[in-house]
Parts: sequence; structure tokens; C-alpha cells
Amino acid sequence: MSQVKLIVSNWKMNLNFIQTRKLINGLKKIKFNSSTTKNIICPQFLLIPLVSELIKKTNILVGAQDCHQNTAGAFTGDTSVELLKKMNCKYVIVGHSERRQYHNETDDIIKQKVDLILSFGIKPIICVGESLKDRKNKKYTKVIKEQLSNCIPFGLNNVIIAYEPIWSIGTGLVPTIEEIVEIHDLTTNFLKKSKKINQLNFLYGGSVNADNFMDIMQNTNINGALIGGSSLKINEMNKILTFC
Ligand code: 13P
Repeated sequence: MSQVKLIVSNWKMNLNFIQTRKLINGLKKIKFNSSTTKNIICPQFLLIPLVSELIKKTNILVGAQDCHQNTAGAFTGDTSVELLKKMNCKYVIVGHSERRQYHNETDDIIKQKVDLILSFGIKPIICVGESLKDRKNKKYTKVIKEQLSNCIPFGLNNVIIAYEPIWSIGTGLVPTIEEIVEIHDLTTNFLKKSKKINQLNFLYGGSVNADNFMDIMQNTNINGALIGGSSLKINEMNKILTFC
């Protein structure tokens, strides 16, 4: 199991150019161990060129929040992975529940995106997670296994999975340590058995802040976090990155 921690900021559709400069300037000042921690920033598309420029010669990496599943073509409003690569994106988040919910992304589309991203030598960060209804009905393990089964290619050397229960995103609700460990174990075992994947980077996402991050990292052996709201706050990021 990889010991490297991935701290992934999902800025979502937030920040203007001035705010971006300010936050990146703050992040640059944070001293963290870059041999064991990767600080990955995923801004909205129009901020990527600026972020990519600002992080040159730093230990910060840039990623994207999505891309199209085709290389190029008549896909109005979409963004190609080829241009993301040109902008130095090393990671792309795929299958976020907000994409599934507001853009009707299916597991099939997500799998196509994953394949394309990998073919460009970029690392996909593949999101899975159940709704509150699935959790209450005790269908969550079935739902997550289905997502893993449908979205992940067979036989990869390693894979990054972000477990983001939909009910925890932006709500302040965080699963218990036992609940996170259960999904981590389920994912590890499922990928080993069904996909012959032995190297997993497992991230947790959903209402992560510095306090619950420390608790989760101390009491599980997961590999990091996918952070929304707190990733916009320099004090939270300072605590998170220096704790790693
Ligand atoms: P919050 O951290 O704001 O709950 O968002 C989580 C998320 O969706 C990250 O991708």
C-alpha cells in the first residue's frame, strides 16, 4: 500500500482570478513534506491556466474537475483531456456525484472518461458514493460495488478512488471511522478480486475539515482526502497539509 498522501482540493465553481492568486500565494507558503504528501488543486476550467502558471517551480500540482469522454469533436461546452494535459494537469476528478446528478453522467460515461484520461497518461480520481436513501435502506455496499464494477477498468497497476457519500457533501455530516473503514475494506477487496487491482489509493471526501481530517487519518489507513468547502480556506489547508 502506498504511503503517499493525496490532498485533493476540489474548488468546484468557486473563486475569481484575484481570490485564486491570493489562495495560491497562501498555499505556496505552507511547508509540508512533498515526498510523502501531494497537494493537488482542481480549479474550474477557466482558472486552470492561471493556477498552472502560479504553481510553476512549487510543490503544488494542478488537476481538473472533469473532462469529456471523447478526444475532440462537436461537443459544445465541453473540455478535452488533451488541452488539460497541455495545461499541465496531472489528475482529473471523474464521476463526482454533482456531475452524475446535474449532468446525468452514467457509470458508462465515467468508464469512457477514465479510459481516455489514462490513455493520456493522466491519473483519474474516480468518485463513488451512495445517497442517503441507499444508506438508510442498507443498499450502500451494493451501490458502491456496482459503481466500482462499472467505472473501473480491469487490471490497472493502481487506482485512485474517492469515497464521497452524497449525504456528507456540504452537509457537515461525516461517516464514522467504522463506516469509512468498511468502505475502504470493501473497495480494496472488490478491486483485488474483480479487477485484479492490488494498488489502491483510497481518499475520503465529504465535509472534510482540519479536525475530522486528523481524526480520520489517525484512525484509518486511507491515503488522503478530496476536499470541497475547506479547500477554499487557507487556515484549514494549512492545518491539513502540515499534519500530513
Ligand atoms: P465538501 O468538502 O464541501 O463537503 O465537498 C466535498 C466534495 O464534494 C469534494 O469533491
